Amino acid sequence: MNSQKKRIPKPSYLIGWLPGDGIGPEVCNATRVVLDAVGFKAEYIHGDIGWEFWKSEGNALPERTIDILKYSDSALFGAITSKPAQVAEEELFPDIKERGFVYRSPIVHMRQLFDLYVCLRPCKSYIGNSANYREGIDLTVFRENTEDLYAGVEFSYVPNELARVLTELSKNFAPFKNLSGDEYAISCKINTKKGSERIVRAAFEYALAHNRKKVTVVHKANVVRATDGLFLDSARVVAKEYQGIAFDEANVDAICMWLLKNPFNYDVLVAPNLYGDIISDLCAQMVGGLGFGCSGNIGENFAVFEPTHGSAPKYAGMNKVNPLATILAAKMMLEWLGEIEKAMAIENAVARVIREGRVRTYDMGGTATTIEMASAVVEAFF
Ligand code: NAI
Ligand code: MG
Repeated sequence: MNSQKKRIPKPSYLIGWLPGDGIGPEVCNATRVVLDAVGFKAEYIHGDIGWEFWKSEGNALPERTIDILKYSDSALFGAITSKPAQVAEEELFPDIKERGFVYRSPIVHMRQLFDLYVCLRPCKSYIGNSANYREGIDLTVFRENTEDLYAGVEFSYVPNELARVLTELSKNFAPFKNLSGDEYAISCKINTKKGSERIVRAAFEYALAHNRKKVTVVHKANVVRATDGLFLDSARVVAKEYQGIAFDEANVDAICMWLLKNPFNYDVLVAPNLYGDIISDLCAQMVGGLGFGCSGNIGENFAVFEPTHGSAPKYAGMNKVNPLATILAAKMMLEWLGEIEKAMAIENAVARVIREGRVRTYDMGGTATTIEMASAVVEAFF
């Protein structure tokens, strides 16, 4: 898997720079201060992304942004606000049906377009962080990033031909029998063998490379038998190739309870897209909250790094939120590019700032601003 592939550092890089909206631009600006100070040489190319561009041009991930990503070495993404569910697409675009566009999450779109099938989310409690749930937590979540309920095959209005086939095939079980197409909706959960095997293999390869002891597959195969059954079976097949690493299985509901009860029983977790999304926020909260959750969307030849959090609109423009999640995402990006020393320098500086506890943003019980936190990380290099 690519997160382990050795890359040769380059004298300079082209980085797609996607701050997005809400708190995205603030945390990205703060991260740039750190990237410059660590001596990372790059040209940053700004890309438009988000709801604002959907409103103005009917595309939240415009073609010009996709082009930038195609020639970048990797990208850093801040956050975007999703389309509010109550805004009807027809209100903005009366001709929407003829033009054939409906809102699609640009992040999900980007992950699928570039086949960024690994969502890697390390969750580590840094020593001295008063926001830690427990000291000594070091979990890594592998979330499948292109399939499952995020496959994008959805029907807010169910077409007659689909209703007919489903009613026929599901016999008496269909809860939608006799309902008209606008009385129910369908989101398809689609999981493939290839998609399931490659994410589980990525988790095991990571475990091997990082001397991890155990991989736990997260599922709900006792109920969601077809798709989660396939994911679980695929995991079992792949696990046999890695005899030196323990393999464990857990239901998604149960693991939310077990993770809180004893996080030290777990090491590397691998899950289909939706469960991975959910457990990674849970794991982020155990290591101080979303201000510490960093994330890499990784494919074979391209990767986009981002904080796990969203655009937190209520804090936008206040220079108040914690930039460490994005700074740590940038650290993951440097690691992926092969800039190991610079990545380590960022990691050590972040650990030092947290350990010393003098500069703390509001979520850590302090009053430091976003940019003051970035400056503290820079000072900790020296
Ligand atoms: P959120 O992650 O934006 O914020 C939830 C809460 O977490 C905030 O109110 C704040 O208390 C805390 N938080 C988040 N980032 C923080 C930081 N850097 N420092 C300190 N505290 C932080 O989730 P929410 O409010 O559910 O979603 C807001 C918008 O973001 C929605 O439109 C949602 O769809 C979108 N979103 C976008 C994502 C992305 O761009 N990748 C991911 C998740 C949500
Ligand atoms: Mg999420």
